[in-house]
Amino acid sequence: MMRRSSGISGAAAAAVMTYVALSSVFAACHSAGTSGGRPNDVGAALPPRVPATFPPAWRFAANEKATVAPSTMIASNSLLASQAGDEILRQGGNAVDAAVAVGFALAVTFPYAGNLGGGGYMVIRMADGRTSAVDYREVAPLAAMPDMYLDQNGKLTDESVVGYKASGVPGAVAGMAAALARFGVKSLRDVVQPAIRLAEDGFIVDSALFLSLQEDREYISRFDGKAVFFPNGQPLQPGTRFRQPALARTLKLIADRGADAFYTGEVADSIVAGMRRGGGIFTKDDLARYRPIMREPIVSTYRGYRLFTMPPSSSGGVTITESLNILETFDSLPPFGSVGYTHALASAYQRAFIDRNSKLGDPAFVQVPLERLTSKDYARGLRRTIAPDRATPTPELERKIAEGTHTTHYSVVDGSGNAVATTTTINNGYGSGVYLTGPGFFMNDEMDDFAAQPGKPNMFGLVQGEQNAIAPGKRMLSAMSPTIVLDPAGNVLLVVGAAGGPRIITATSQVILNVIHHRMSLADAMRAPRLHHQALPDTLRYEPSGLAPAVLDSLTHMGWRVKPIDWVANVNAVMRVPGGWVGVSEPRDQGVSRAVGH
Ligand code: DON
Repeated sequence: MMRRSSGISGAAAAAVMTYVALSSVFAACHSAGTSGGRPNDVGAALPPRVPATFPPAWRFAANEKATVAPSTMIASNSLLASQAGDEILRQGGNAVDAAVAVGFALAVTFPYAGNLGGGGYMVIRMADGRTSAVDYREVAPLAAMPDMYLDQNGKLTDESVVGYKASGVPGAVAGMAAALARFGVKSLRDVVQPAIRLAEDGFIVDSALFLSLQEDREYISRFDGKAVFFPNGQPLQPGTRFRQPALARTLKLIADRGADAFYTGEVADSIVAGMRRGGGIFTKDDLARYRPIMREPIVSTYRGYRLFTMPPSSSGGVTITESLNILETFDSLPPFGSVGYTHALASAYQRAFIDRNSKLGDPAFVQVPLERLTSKDYARGLRRTIAPDRATPTPELERKIAEGTHTTHYSVVDGSGNAVATTTTINNGYGSGVYLTGPGFFMNDEMDDFAAQPGKPNMFGLVQGEQNAIAPGKRMLSAMSPTIVLDPAGNVLLVVGAAGGPRIITATSQVILNVIHHRMSLADAMRAPRLHHQALPDTLRYEPSGLAPAVLDSLTHMGWRVKPIDWVANVNAVMRVPGGWVGVSEPRDQGVSRAVGH
């Protein structure tokens, strides 16, 4: 059975960035002045940042540069998409308008994960205090069956990952349109324009797109994307212009007729025809019935900071909240990178993931104990199961607790202090590999996020239970964790989220901890070595050279099974600093910033 591993190579930009050393941020911001009416003095009260210390062999230096601007900031995986959002902000759009423009532009410039054929989540906090968590996760087609990915011998096939049966019904277009209608000030037509231009006129292929196509050549070439992405049998060449007329046409239809064009109009016809031709199970009814859901974000606190994050159908917000609640029970946390800190962090994640994997699912189908899992009381109980000096094996813990490669994230803030955290995905890089030539985009393989066989690992090694079993119309459990953090004075401090399957949860929460707890600059917080634990497999994963050898030794003696991991997650974040904002796109991805502000 083929199970693809998920890594990100990312789209890139060979453009020149406003790249300013953090040490000169304050001077730069003040001399740049303010614009857009945001009261920029709010950042002045922030606690000072503390320079980070990383292990000697760690790949990144501390105190690096970040993109800085006085009024607005967008960090995404594609410079062209960040610029599309910036264009909308400059035309008077707010953060939601810009986020939707980024989303549509990513579908053009970052086909690896940006999408019309997938879904996602958008956490919104407007400066006037309104909030929303827009759930535009895919749903299982009406013809889906719990055992649809098992062969005659009851063995899992790879059809939840690759090909025409792997897709859930896409939610991206409906979700972005709904967010825009509720919170935006621009029309859908306006915010889709930059994406139309990028698809119609084309854009210059960079080395990142070339390399990611090269890496996924075999996968994409099995389906109809071969002719589009491998003209003359070779991946699109760096420096050449890439036009996508079919996608441009789809985007124009959406601009003209709204989301309906996608769900009931001719795009819907073309999606259904394309999927059926390959043996897919989609019907027009599936598309016509799709609805995004406006949910209330999970609101939690960590040592006086307030977090707005994504509730189920994503597990992201619950698991981050539960992990941070456990960590908050420690009067103080040991220093970054120490044995004690790593033990506390891994123990918290291990416990939170046990709950995630067994108790969470689509709340429209199963009971989810949301209040309990996110309560401080519950975290105190879990804390008592953490021994100070030894790891607890996951099976032992499961008994105690039992009672009871691809995605992309972007963060946007505007000049009025509105903030949007969005994570969107087609699951694997290039989704199911299926490219629909009619509408011009890749379809997702989100069905693999269900427990296709409860108790058996999925592509990310997640062992999940019946709560997340397949059912028609059900949303598959996600780990996506778009999060907005307010400082104790109630101002937006951080907008953050990630790609990386279950590692989204651990990476996002570690950037939050690095900022809040270790008071790192955003550049350091993003470069700091990350670790991951997801309960099963019962292994503490760390980035090579991210833990000092002596720390690893001690952890092994405490009973932790430790194993390096090459790729942890892809985070894009924006943070308030005195006088403005910094934006940092994932440093593990490329050396070039893909953050844009003004
Ligand atoms: O929703 C989820 O949790 C997964 N579909 C996310 C997949 C992902 O992040 C792949 N990227 N590395």
